Amino acid sequence: MPRVFVQGRPVDSYPRLAPEARRGAVRRITEVGEEVLHKSCRDVTEFGPDLAALIDDMFLTMYVADGAGLAANQVDVDLRLFVYDCLDDDGVRHVGHIVNPVLEPLDPTERRLLDEGEGCLSVPGAVMDVPRPDRAVVRGLDKDGNPLTVEGTGYFARCLAHETDHVSGHVYLDRLSGRERKEALRQVADRRDEVFARRAAKTEALKSQVSPSVPPRL
Ligand code: NI
Repeated sequence: MPRVFVQGRPVDSYPRLAPEARRGAVRRITEVGEEVLHKSCRDVTEFGPDLAALIDDMFLTMYVADGAGLAANQVDVDLRLFVYDCLDDDGVRHVGHIVNPVLEPLDPTERRLLDEGEGCLSVPGAVMDVPRPDRAVVRGLDKDGNPLTVEGTGYFARCLAHETDHVSGHVYLDRLSGRERKEALRQVADRRDEVFARRAAKTEALKSQVSPSVPPRL
């Protein structure tokens, strides 16, 4: 079985950082409570260099925060798209972006719910168990407007569902009980500073890796 899928298709190999990140800039990640995270985003209607540049920035921003997925409203852009670089439960890596994603409804008799740990870059420092289907199919477009379908299982299915929730204006806390939500926010209060310090350090470390002024190592 191929070990890497890019835009839903198997490839033989892929760099550790997606090429988009080398062109991108780091943007600020929005946090729970900011309006842009709690309303449905607008469909993307313009496919061109601005969209491609946004995707580049989203990849780099995701990497400096050690994320497995990032939606546009997490960098304060009110548009329906997300990027991902995520391992599934079989250790297969999935990398890509999807524009105007729609999660396909699955037959309830064929899906199984997994109640496993989930975090979010916009809820820094918290991890809570959230029930999610063990399989997900998302349909949408690529940055050039071509139709695209991405399927995932296990943790990658969780990622696809989580990111599609984001573009609809939902964070995973919305799926928790009031008591669990309070617990998640308590974890944020405890660990937020530590998470931000780690992101700052990673930003410095990645700058040297992605900087075009550094000659390639032989
Ligand atoms: Ni998230």
